[in-house]
Amino acid sequence: MQLLSPLTVGALQLQNRVLLAPLTRCRATTDHVPTPLMAEYYAQRASGGLVIAEATAISEGASAFYTEPGIYSEAQIAGWKQVTDAVHAKGGLIVLQLWHGGRACHSDLNGGAIPIAPSAIGITNDKAHTPKGSVPYDVPRELRDDELPGIVDLFKKAAENAKLAGFDGVEVHGANGYLLDEFLRDGANKRSGPYGGSIENRASLMVEVIDAVISVWGADRVGLRISPLNSYNSMIDSDPVAITTYIAEQCSARGLAYLHMMRADFLGEQSGDVMTPARAAFKGTLIANMGYTADEAEAAIADGKLDAVAFGTSFLANPDLPARIAAKAELNVPNAAKFYSPGPEGYTDYPTMV
Ligand SMILES: Cc1cc2nc3c(=O)[nH]c(=O)nc-3n(C[C@H](O)[C@H](O)[C@H](O)COP(=O)(O)O)c2cc1C
Repeated sequence: MQLLSPLTVGALQLQNRVLLAPLTRCRATTDHVPTPLMAEYYAQRASGGLVIAEATAISEGASAFYTEPGIYSEAQIAGWKQVTDAVHAKGGLIVLQLWHGGRACHSDLNGGAIPIAPSAIGITNDKAHTPKGSVPYDVPRELRDDELPGIVDLFKKAAENAKLAGFDGVEVHGANGYLLDEFLRDGANKRSGPYGGSIENRASLMVEVIDAVISVWGADRVGLRISPLNSYNSMIDSDPVAITTYIAEQCSARGLAYLHMMRADFLGEQSGDVMTPARAAFKGTLIANMGYTADEAEAAIADGKLDAVAFGTSFLANPDLPARIAAKAELNVPNAAKFYSPGPEGYTDYPTMV
């Protein structure tokens, strides 16, 4: 199967095209320090061509979940080093997803601090999950233009820390209604000035972050994830194809290792084809995600529509997913009740094939 064949992604030599999608699992400490349990979980999945580690906060005050990891303290770097060592010991490759939660960072999770966003528009189609329970999202504070270089610096520092932690590269999280995506899509960005209005302006923060991260890692170890159609976190854009094309062109011009496309909408409200324009405009490795079976992934790769597929819930529940695909074996069923809960249950206890 082509899905199981090797692939060069920038500077990385992947053993197959079955990648672990980034999955927030909330198994770090309350100080956002990665744990030995996380090292075990990721090492279990090291047979994926690339492990894309979960959304990881670039700074204090940017938490949108409880006990998700960060990459801004010495302890967090040391915790991640245990994870990368464990994956490397199994012959795997691992990149870190660099993330700022933007308006999804509820004040209850961040010492009372009001979240920041391109515009003072809150998330209304969901609730924030905090230790106090499910609560309405805050209306965020609109960032001033003169604060944005500081955000870029935080991403750069986090990229440097990821290097210290032994990762093989980084993925910039530009998806799912978090800070960079909020700037990109016009449903959340109503700014005037250099970071609002045109697609070019709305993409500026994302592009500046990519350039800062490239300055640390080199373009051949940097990827970007976007989700132009996803309405999760109250997101929408008037022209998803146009933003896809623009971002793909920018990534292509910079020689980015990969572009990681979420092809659809978690909530099924927005539809369209963003994969074809991404393929047309981006010359590097194109990774697709969302709802793929092995058969569909294989057919899409064989047709030249994409190069690799990131598997989320199926890889979460099947630590040996590439081997199962090779054997055409049955798949374990994911236990959604344990996606974000503490401890090993529904995390490290999914069985491998017998
Ligand atoms: C429990 C869970 C956590 C997730 N966390 C992240 C994340 O940290 N970063 C991200 O970009 N996407 C995240 N996603 C989205 C997944 O990466 C993926 O897009 C989604 O599961 C759809 O792919 P699938 O159909 O292969 O599962 C998460 C999804 C789930 C179910």
